[in-house]
Order: sequence, then C-alpha cells, then structure tokens
Amino acid sequence: MSAPSFAVTMNPAPASPERRAEILADPGFGRYMTDHMATIRWTEGQGWHDPEIVPYGPLVLDPSSMVLHYGQEIFEGLKAYRQPDGSIASFRPDANARRFQGSAARLAMPELPEELFLASLSELLAVDGEWVPAAGGEDSLYLRPFMIATEVGLGVRPSSEYLYAVIASPAGPYFSGGVKPMDVWLETEYTRAALGGTGTAKCGGNYAASLLPQSIGAEHGCSQVAYLDAEERTWIDEMGSNNLFFVFSSEGETELVTPELRGSVLAGITRDSLMTLAEDMGITVISRRIAGQEWLGGAANGLLTEVFGCGTAAVITPIGTVRHHGGEVQIGGGEPGPVTLRLREGLTAIQRGAAPDKHGWMYPL
Ligand code: PLP
Ligand code: COI
Repeated sequence: MSAPSFAVTMNPAPASPERRAEILADPGFGRYMTDHMATIRWTEGQGWHDPEIVPYGPLVLDPSSMVLHYGQEIFEGLKAYRQPDGSIASFRPDANARRFQGSAARLAMPELPEELFLASLSELLAVDGEWVPAAGGEDSLYLRPFMIATEVGLGVRPSSEYLYAVIASPAGPYFSGGVKPMDVWLETEYTRAALGGTGTAKCGGNYAASLLPQSIGAEHGCSQVAYLDAEERTWIDEMGSNNLFFVFSSEGETELVTPELRGSVLAGITRDSLMTLAEDMGITVISRRIAGQEWLGGAANGLLTEVFGCGTAAVITPIGTVRHHGGEVQIGGGEPGPVTLRLREGLTAIQRGAAPDKHGWMYPL
C-alpha cells in the first residue's frame, strides 16, 4: 500500500477544552487517552488495508481471537513533543518503526511498512494535536502503537488477520519521583528473557512475565527490577522497562558503560541516542558485559559513581540504591550524578527543540 489515505471519523463527543486543560495540568502517566485512535487492518492475501482515524473507544473482539489465547501482541512507545514554534515533533520514530518490524518478525506477524507507521502517527496527531502539552516543560504526548492477532480460532499458529492501532496519552514523569533517584531490585531468581527467546522484541508477554518480580521488587521498596542473564544469572541485562547505564570514575577518567545487546536485551532508542550524545560530550562509552557483582562491588568501593535507567517513558532516571537478597548498596550518595544530569539535559533539550538537532533525530508530525 503506497500513499496511505486514512478515512477519518471524528469523535462526536470529544473532551471539552476545559477538561483537556485539566488533564494536561497533571497528566500522570497513561491515565488519560486522547479523543481518537488510528487503526489499520491486515488480512492474509490482501495485506494492509482500511487505514482509519476513529473515535477512541473499546475494541470488539471475538472471545476466540488468537491474541487472547496465545499472546500474539507487540507494541511500541514513543513521544510527541511541542516545539517552541508551536509545531509538533517526535524523536526518532523511524527507529521505532524498524523495531516494530523486528518485533513483528519475531512473533510471526506481518511487518508494517515504515511509511504506514509514520503516517499513522501524523494522521492521529492531525486530529489530536491539541493534546500535546505546551512547550518548555517536560510533559509530552506518549504514543502507543500496537498490533494484535484477530483471527478467530484456537489452533496454535500465526493468525491470518491483525489489527494495528495507535492510541495516545498525555504524559508527565513515568516514575512519580521524576529525577529523584529510584531504588532498584536486583533480581537473582526470575529472569526477563533468555537467548533465543523474545527479549529483543517488544511484546506484551515479556511484560506479563515481569509483573511477579516487579511486585517482589515493590515489596522491597523498589520501583524497577534489574535482571541478570538467564543462562548464568551473572550478567546484567536491563530493567523491566529501561536500559541501564553505569558511570565508572577513577583518577579523573570517566567511563560510561552499558550492557551489550546480547540477544536478550531490548535495543532501546534512548540507549542508542545516549551513546551518541555521550561521545559528542567527549565521554568514553563502552558497551560490554557487566556483572551484577561489579555493580554491587563498584558501588561499595566508590569506583561506580552513577547508575541510571533510560527509556522513552522514563527518560533518564537515576538509581540511588540497589537492593538484593543479601542487602543494599547506595550509589553516589543516593544523589543524581553529574553525567546523568548532563545527558538528561542534553537529550531533553533536543527533544524540546531547545538545542540543535545535529543528528537529525526530530521528525515533524
Ligand atoms: N527496555 C525495555 C524492556 C523497555 O520496555 C524499554 C522501553 O521502551 C526500554 C528498554 C527502553 O527503550 P526505548 O529507549 O526505545 O524507549
Ligand atoms: C517505554 O518507555 O515506552 C515503555 O514501553 C516502557 C513501559 C511503559 C512499558
């Protein structure tokens, strides 16, 4: 399908401007949805068809739709930012489009062409643009593209029909503490993903499997869980919804280390962007294996000065303390460190249109 043209059905009862302003004043994360959604169907033999913008509302699904039984579902997460001139731009949506294709391939789903992915975002923003928060602050409109298997039947096989949709939700900080350091649970029993599994895909099942360890972390006062590799329970992979970075400093030398993408880690677009930004800032960046013990030991001996999580929803969130069954260690006195804050400022300034976009990351919507 080339030059997609979306049929538009306007919501007959959109939120009033007053209600929208009330929501935008304190959006939280994922609590409120905009007035419309984009949908595109895929049918075997026909391909992608019927792109539409429709009022946001319930989906009607047959109880034997395949997604409800075998979890054939993938999603993306990206944000639209109001620019100082009032226009709207997104950050590297082409990278999300490609990752969505990779997730689709892993789950034996059809790949949505990049052009259609991008068009679904612009078409939704064309009707719901007023939901993008004002320029200047950190709030944005979170965009959630997803795809589900809609064929009716109970046989275990790839569905022959799919629904792709994009919904949007105004977003403040993902973690209620904002840039306040969070405490993280280092999980040594449950794992997130194994080599050959679905860790590199953004599929709902990965998050379903993270909920039990997430609640164990929460019982220990932690807002995220850091996972070790499934084979040796030694090497740090990532967190439940963030990639990880570690800052090692000694004798004036600073190194930014992030776990390598070893086939069980989601290739974060924020991670990739921060590696480039750090290099721009003259910081040495290394992608390598890093052991859980190196985290605990480095925090204890002071060579590990900063740790932070990063992702679209969480932006960059410093980690103040790491807890595990054997105890806990504070990092950098529990305060956000200078490298964390510099990278955070560098990234958000580009996204807000407050700094030059020299890598061509911003995409007008
Ligand atoms: N890792 C996981 C498991 C995630 O859910 C996310 C969030 O999307 C990330 C990492 C960060 O990815 P990105 O920076 O592309 O948002
Ligand atoms: C994101 O950062 O976009 C995520 O997907 C994290 C989470 C809300 C699942």
